[in-house]
Amino acid sequence: MQYELPEDIDHLAEDVAAKWLEKLASQIAYHDTLYHTQDAPEISDQDYDQLVRANRAIEARFPALIRADSPSDRVGASPSAGFGKIKHAQPMLSLSNVFDDEELEEFISRIRRFLALSPDTVIEMTAEPKIDGLSLSLRYEKGQLVMAATRGNGSEGEDVTANVRTIQDIPHQLKTSEGAIIPELIEIRGEVYMDKVDFTTLNARQAEAGGKIFANPRNAAAGSLRQKDPEITARRPLKFFAYASGALSLAPASTHAEFLEWLSAVGFQVNPMSRLCQDTEALLATYEAIGTARPSLSYDIDGVVYKVNDYDWQNRLGQVSRSPRWATAHKFPAEQAETKLIDIDIQVGRTGALTPVARLEPVLVGGVTVSNATLHNEDEIRRLDARIGDQVVLQRAGDVIPQIIAVKKDARTEEIAEFSFPETCPICDHPAIRPEGEAVRRCTGGFACEAQSLERLKHFVSRETLDVDGLGTKQVELFRSIGWLNTPADIFLLADKREMLMALDGYGETSINNLLSAIEAVRTAPLERLIFALGIRQIGQATAKLLAIHYGTLECLQEAAIAAADETSPAWEELTNIDQIGESVARDLSRFFIDPISQQIVGELLVEMKPTPPEKPAANSPVSGKVLVFTGTLTQMSRNEAKALAERLGAKVSGSVSSKTDYLIAGDAAGSKARKAAELGITVLDEAAWIALAGQQGDPSN
Ligand code: IVH
Repeated sequence: MQYELPEDIDHLAEDVAAKWLEKLASQIAYHDTLYHTQDAPEISDQDYDQLVRANRAIEARFPALIRADSPSDRVGASPSAGFGKIKHAQPMLSLSNVFDDEELEEFISRIRRFLALSPDTVIEMTAEPKIDGLSLSLRYEKGQLVMAATRGNGSEGEDVTANVRTIQDIPHQLKTSEGAIIPELIEIRGEVYMDKVDFTTLNARQAEAGGKIFANPRNAAAGSLRQKDPEITARRPLKFFAYASGALSLAPASTHAEFLEWLSAVGFQVNPMSRLCQDTEALLATYEAIGTARPSLSYDIDGVVYKVNDYDWQNRLGQVSRSPRWATAHKFPAEQAETKLIDIDIQVGRTGALTPVARLEPVLVGGVTVSNATLHNEDEIRRLDARIGDQVVLQRAGDVIPQIIAVKKDARTEEIAEFSFPETCPICDHPAIRPEGEAVRRCTGGFACEAQSLERLKHFVSRETLDVDGLGTKQVELFRSIGWLNTPADIFLLADKREMLMALDGYGETSINNLLSAIEAVRTAPLERLIFALGIRQIGQATAKLLAIHYGTLECLQEAAIAAADETSPAWEELTNIDQIGESVARDLSRFFIDPISQQIVGELLVEMKPTPPEKPAANSPVSGKVLVFTGTLTQMSRNEAKALAERLGAKVSGSVSSKTDYLIAGDAAGSKARKAAELGITVLDEAAWIALAGQQGDPSN
């Protein structure tokens, strides 16, 4: 691809300037990918700089036109090709959120219920700033830093060890001077960030040298950490706060507060604003205090993190999906701004959902220029009575997509027509139908709709699902436009297209080898990832995992889901009996698998793939492989904790008693389930017997 530059920037009209910014953004993104991801630039550095400079010059003349995807803000394309991968010994989780006092109360009540604590038991919690940087996992063996990795997809990150060694705050060797225990192995988790002044100075320096300008300190920290040359990282003023551990051979503390002291003793910076709190009032007071201090801090924070102080409790609480039950984030309020609604576009997503997107006159909200916002669905447009041309109030919180929260109806100077939502798909023209009682209108084109099938392909290879390196959105679009990718299994046919790939702009021997080996690796991907990758409505990561564990193979799942289309069948009963799988999810699942196109897609995939079944949790426990049902009130632990424990021990927990049930665990006041179990001759255990049985497994975390 050649590149195109505007001729006379000083005399561009505003509408022409906006068009140029769009054109430059797409050209720069294209060349960034070639340069960073494929190491195969098509144009010289000087030519690239001209594009960047032209973009910056137009932005300087028309600050209001700065795009949300402005190349000046970009960190560079995903550099994954340039860094090795590291599997975290323990996954790096994300945090759930609470938005107000009430949600915090609920969060703590859930903990209380889960641990079966009495209402007057004090649950000590810590409150500490949520640093707005990027998380890092540091592996220390015998006190020596041996590896450093970014979060990546949570299970696997990028190896940034060489760069991390240049960060002053990160000790190469843990200090032993204060008598602190040094475990054989410990992963330290924390946040890399850049001070606000350092960010401003860096940007000034970059501008002078014609380098990349960063949008905010977080992007600057990310861009600096992911430099291919550690010498460049060394010149960037990165800092680090430690706040958690990952895998470890020996816990150096028994509470989080003690652990923070340990971190400080062995040489880490820990945030000085952490507080140990005895109740919600104290947590909220700390939230207020940190919020008040926020503008005067030298670094960006975006909220407060609350954590259960006691590590035994943390361990018992465990995690749900990808976040711990023992911690949550309380974000600071969203920032607002006013702007003009220029247009409403309708996007068609992976599941056919028609989503209206507001195109806005660019406006600065909380330090970021926003020109698009979500409008959710047609009811939302009606509720707001949003019309094209209106003045609207915009809100942005953290990384969340900006939202329109109100329309300034008084500001309407003339009649504007109501917005009419399309009843056919804007992409494929199939009818777009909104079932009774649902909020979303969906295109009925399925895989026949270009937008849907493209989005499904992107989802199939995306980071959260099969994570095929080198097959991002851009590449999927490119290969699809050439006609190489029609269904998911087509990715495996790319191996036969080596010659043709070579002929494509920006592809060389190395990038093709990397791509093809990433695709090869997918053949044995974990089953739960494959199930999630299929893009079935309502089947997210957590449900995919449940299904993988329960059915063991895609063939079994498919067979069961097809049979479950008959809601009087045993297959339906078994499916809806899986704890946490309700009727609506079960219906979407069988709807997917009875569709002949899905069957064809799954069939083709199974020719190419041999997915790895999930690791059997504790195959040697007395309940592994057994089907358990819990009923009644337990006194030593909550029912949820008991279920989580049973699952860790390899049992399947079901919601109702059937002939397949092995044990019914009946707490106090067990009712109809106990009667049914007795009728079916199923073994009923009381709480003491259950605890004895579960306790036969030495370490439930194995
Ligand atoms: S604790 C299992 N503490 O927030 C949770 N996270 O939204 C371990 N973060 O990925 C994280 N400040 O990058 C924790 N004081 C803090 C934090 C913090 C920032 C980040 C972290 C995490 C993200 C979750």
